[in-house]
Amino acid sequence: MRAPFHSVEARAPGKIILAGEHAVVYDRPALAVPVPSVQARVQVRRAPAGFTLRAPDIGLTAALDDLPPAHPLRRAVDLTQAALQAAWPPLEVRIASSIPVAAGLGSGAAVTVALVRALAAFVGRALPPRQVNALAYEVEKLHHGTPSGIDNTVVTYARPIRYRKSRGWQPLPVARAVPLVIADTGRAAPTREMVLGVRQRWQAQPARYEALFDAIADQVAAAQAALAAGDLPALGQALNANHALLQALGVSTPELDALVNAARAAGAYGAKLSGAGGGGNMLAVTDATHQPAVAQALRAAGAARVLCTTLPPTP
Ligand code: MEV
Repeated sequence: MRAPFHSVEARAPGKIILAGEHAVVYDRPALAVPVPSVQARVQVRRAPAGFTLRAPDIGLTAALDDLPPAHPLRRAVDLTQAALQAAWPPLEVRIASSIPVAAGLGSGAAVTVALVRALAAFVGRALPPRQVNALAYEVEKLHHGTPSGIDNTVVTYARPIRYRKSRGWQPLPVARAVPLVIADTGRAAPTREMVLGVRQRWQAQPARYEALFDAIADQVAAAQAALAAGDLPALGQALNANHALLQALGVSTPELDALVNAARAAGAYGAKLSGAGGGGNMLAVTDATHQPAVAQALRAAGAARVLCTTLPPTP
């Protein structure tokens, strides 16, 4: 083992699901991309004594041992320790994140991935991405109950992915830059409840919900083909159709629908809710010319936060 560093920092990006959320829990494919303009940052440094976690964004300062074993931060630290088979020296861990919490942007997964990497680096070790991803998946279960694994995977590998629960991830080719506008309803997206609600409705009406999941998989395939061809109008159409299917699943809200409609009216190629729904974010695909107007229309329609970003073409 190399000598421990005095202080180390690791970062992980936010993420957004382009298409396929919820159906991905039922082993249909989904597409997700990193959003590097928002990030989780974890700094680990030696302290005189103990193991202190500081996360001012969520008002948390605690000794590790005072957190319950099922607390996501404690679980991430304990799983990392088990994976490294290392004893922690006295440490202070500072967690800061510009990723909005409970908004569908992967803040929980990003904090876990950055925390696992920073702790491993502090003791002079690098865990392979597959292991970081597996640890982050365990912690996602505490956040979400029955996660598909897409959030931790896109955050760990920090590249556009196509994901399927039973088959893992593949790189997602993107032929040309895709301008995106992401807008937040300002209402928390209760992922656990939304996923549970879909499960209860699926159990009550399996044939109807299986058909909706299959129809979503068709739109994921259309979106993937559009990205590979650099066809933004076709991508927009697939996202619009995906939104209609998410409405049919019962996970949209009047606020999300209003933002989606505002983006389309302002010239977006297409728009949809992104993530679990019930609140959180929506996403619009535009061309570079319409991006500012779409952002402005979303603010005017009541978005609490608007983020313009561009998905770069893959090499
Ligand atoms: C949450 O970001 C996406 C969902 O599909 C849940 C999951 O995949 O774990 C709603």
